[in-house]
Amino acid sequence: MKVLILGGDGYCGWATALHLSSEGFDVAIADNFLRRLWDHELGSPTLTPIATLPERLRTWEKVSGKVIESFVGDITNWNFISDTIRKYQPDTIVHFAEQRSAPYSMIDREHSVFTQVNNVVGTLNVLYAIRDFVPTCHLIKLGTMGEYGTPNIDIEEGFIEIEHNGRKDRLPFPMQPSSMYHLSKLHDSNNIQFACKIWGIRTTDLHQGIVYGTIISETEKDEKLINRLDYDDVFGTVLNRFCVQAVIGMPLTVYGKGGQTRGMLDIRDTVKCIKIAIMNPAKEGEYRVFNQFTESFNINQIAEKVKTAGDKIGLNVKINHLQNPRVEKEEHYFNPKNTSLLSLGLKPHYLSESLFDSLLNVVVQYKDRIDNRIIAPKVNWRNTHNTRINLSAKE
Ligand SMILES: NC(=O)c1ccc[n+]([C@@H]2O[C@H](COP(=O)([O-])OP(=O)(O)OC[C@H]3O[C@@H](n4cnc5c(N)ncnc54)[C@H](O)[C@@H]3O)[C@@H](O)[C@H]2O)c1
Repeated sequence: MKVLILGGDGYCGWATALHLSSEGFDVAIADNFLRRLWDHELGSPTLTPIATLPERLRTWEKVSGKVIESFVGDITNWNFISDTIRKYQPDTIVHFAEQRSAPYSMIDREHSVFTQVNNVVGTLNVLYAIRDFVPTCHLIKLGTMGEYGTPNIDIEEGFIEIEHNGRKDRLPFPMQPSSMYHLSKLHDSNNIQFACKIWGIRTTDLHQGIVYGTIISETEKDEKLINRLDYDDVFGTVLNRFCVQAVIGMPLTVYGKGGQTRGMLDIRDTVKCIKIAIMNPAKEGEYRVFNQFTESFNINQIAEKVKTAGDKIGLNVKINHLQNPRVEKEEHYFNPKNTSLLSLGLKPHYLSESLFDSLLNVVVQYKDRIDNRIIAPKVNWRNTHNTRINLSAKE
């Protein structure tokens, strides 16, 4: 089976490409290296020393004997994406190729417009290319749990049964995203759902939680296969930032009260979920949503987990509360369903085990590369003219 991974040089995409290749799929990657460019723009490289894509692919061929093809280009460019899909003729497209940082999308007008154009136009191009060149191809699109927001009712998987004035219907779950980035994902979901209805495209929209961890068994085969580990205030997710702070003796910075609760999953489960979705494709014309997370924690609980793990290895971890730069509920109800992937066979990893073997150990290994100036938050939701990352700023 041929799988085309859009955004295959990024964090989730690279791990997925290696895992599917080792599981016997024919894999190709498309990427325009924007993520590497943002490292330069923000002055915040990944903690782990990632190799270039050609080096990564040569190393993978050497250790596995398997070839991953690559297509370098921008999916918002119709000629590039339509040529790639026409030539490669994938059975499945896994679409990770978007700008995925909420703070990046909230820096200023330019970054917000860029995020929505990149994400929405890229996805629209993919939909049109599927319609025109591979109409039976299964699209697996990475959405986010952040599309739902934090409603005061249970969160279903994409749809909800509603009774209104004596009539019933199954309708899209009411979404309340909390950043321009999360809104771009919701716009994608609406466009995809419409394309499924009018052209019969088959899609799985994976509403993914926050992914953590660096290691999957395939990346351990050679250091040149290592994955990204972002810990800056813009692209670094909360757990990565906390682990880095713990290792360098900086207090963990909880934004606001710390009651913000989110779904999370290990990168080893991300790659398994993608394989499960490929092996159990959506039907012709079906738009289905799986909530892709395994556990939920609030920020205070995450900080406590990192403190407990850090203290065990002698780190003496402290926790601080900062004024919240985001506009979000700091205490709220959160009860999302995640039954679909579990019922299809997902066996989750749990954070308490992964903290040591996939995060803290990697942070300790690359401790000398940590730049403590890139961790404090510098993007404020209320300010539409955030100054860009200022490397001379004092912590
Ligand atoms: N990482 C998470 O915690 C997380 C959580 C929920 C959802 N997601 C979603 O999963 C997907 C992948 O996330 P990630 O963490 O791997 O992000 P990432 O930034 O590491 O990877 C995205 C890749 O897509 C590429 N890309 C972006 N725009 C492109 C374009 N126009 N043309 C070609 N390539 C392009 C980038 O260069 C990068 O290599 C995103 O859609 C994100 O919204 C991620």
